[in-house]
Amino acid sequence: MSKRLYIETVGCQMNMLDSELVVASLRKDGYELVATPAEADAILFNTCSVRQHAEDKIYSALGRLKHAKRQNPNKIIGVLGCMAQKDQKLIFERAPYVDLVVGPGQLHQVPALLSEIAAGSGPRMEVSLERTAGSREEVERSFESYDPLRDEQMRSSPYQAFVRIMIGCDKFCTYCIVPSVRGPEQSRPPEHIETEVRKLAAEGCREITLLGQTVNSYRYVTAGRTTRMSDLLARLHDVDGIERIKFVTNFPKDMTDDLLQAVRDLPKCSHYLHVPAQSGSNRMLRRMKRGYTIEEYREMHARVRQTIPDAAVTSDFIVGFCGEAEEDHQASVELLRESRFKNSFVFKYSPRPGTKAHDLYADDVPEETKRRRNNELLDLQTEISEEDNQQLLGRTVRVLVEGPSKASRKQANRERADREQANHDHDSHDHNKEPHLLQLTGRTNCDRIVVFNGQPRLIGRFLPITIYDTTAFTLFGEVVTEHVGPEVYSLT
Ligand code: SAH
Ligand code: SF4
Ligand code: F3S
Repeated sequence: MSKRLYIETVGCQMNMLDSELVVASLRKDGYELVATPAEADAILFNTCSVRQHAEDKIYSALGRLKHAKRQNPNKIIGVLGCMAQKDQKLIFERAPYVDLVVGPGQLHQVPALLSEIAAGSGPRMEVSLERTAGSREEVERSFESYDPLRDEQMRSSPYQAFVRIMIGCDKFCTYCIVPSVRGPEQSRPPEHIETEVRKLAAEGCREITLLGQTVNSYRYVTAGRTTRMSDLLARLHDVDGIERIKFVTNFPKDMTDDLLQAVRDLPKCSHYLHVPAQSGSNRMLRRMKRGYTIEEYREMHARVRQTIPDAAVTSDFIVGFCGEAEEDHQASVELLRESRFKNSFVFKYSPRPGTKAHDLYADDVPEETKRRRNNELLDLQTEISEEDNQQLLGRTVRVLVEGPSKASRKQANRERADREQANHDHDSHDHNKEPHLLQLTGRTNCDRIVVFNGQPRLIGRFLPITIYDTTAFTLFGEVVTEHVGPEVYSLT
């Protein structure tokens, strides 16, 4: 009998990948995906704990299911991921109708747990050891890297895939919950990663994004041989079919010369580097325990520019961290201004119980100030992005076509709804009409979003696009129709 699964995912790319893998393993067990919780036999939330807001979202979604569960007690409700690891039994206390709680290091157990619950086992919980609950080896073992099966249909495009190269984090920045919920840093063996990438390439995948909380800290040692991130890139670069390799997120201190040279010398490597600074103030960086000074960050950034002049560097900032004075904030503004990041993600500090900052420092910057500082950084970033994108006017960029743009997806949905309505009203027969030219979207080698018109069959291909208009976040272009290199590019 087929069982229906609804899954909702919040958080980072790690979580998106985890959801893809959970769905793949549940499909093997006879589940099919449905679009709403109402239709589902099992409802899963893959959760994030990085900020309070992410948790609130899930608890209110759970609250909305209370009634549904009372009406249909056989519906299974599960909470997976980082909040499951963090809150554990508290989830059952806050939402007593939840059946399943599974941490990110135990996801391989989800299919068996679901069948046991369906067979009447009652509520189940599987989480990993807390970081101080055993020896390093014991804690490591309790967090299993979960990379068994892939599910193409769960990816936003069959031509792109996330590939986990490491799990966990050992940096323990004082504000951050990730090291406790994702466990100790552990790199996957390079041969496992390569096998997975070869398989993805054989399925038609063109672009891979390597994932790790501090992806550039990747290091795998076996029998006295060390594989660094740069070595891994060279190894994956040899996989036929893969044409573009990205990786996120980089830790500033681990941005070594061998890695930058690898990105420069290996043509498939994207020149997009996300290297979060978090703050421009040494006082804040020390409090955050980021392990570098702002001078060291600047030096790193200069080395990136020197080695890869066209690199697009992006950053994260936290505003309103404990004790952040106006001059600390101005130091962040200054850093953002001079660094000319391609983009910055800005977050208002959210105290996380269980972290050092939560225990040691007061969350003493008023919400209003956090909001103002947040907007100040974002406005400046928008200005910079706008100016930098304008320099691409008239230039031709190489784009991997990802699929219909948001606007044309909306349009298609509207047309589908109209057609259904028309069929319903008049039994009309125009439902085979498909638009010839779609608004498509893709990304450049530096991760810039490009929107252009083209045939749906261009999806999944690399194309030269000439840019004729820009905003801070989007480039608008036209497909180049002449002969370029050995391939012929044409619209028709
Ligand atoms: N591993 C990545 C980031 C993981 S979390 C790295 O080290 O860069 C993603 C971003 O969330 C962080 O870069 C940080 O800017 C932000 N963040 C983490 N904890 C936060 C907190 N408690 N409050 C606000 N933002 C936070
Ligand atoms: Fe969190 Fe710092 Fe680790 Fe990033 S490096 S996941 S911010 S502890
Ligand atoms: Fe959130 Fe966990 Fe990712 S806390 S940011 S989903 S590692």
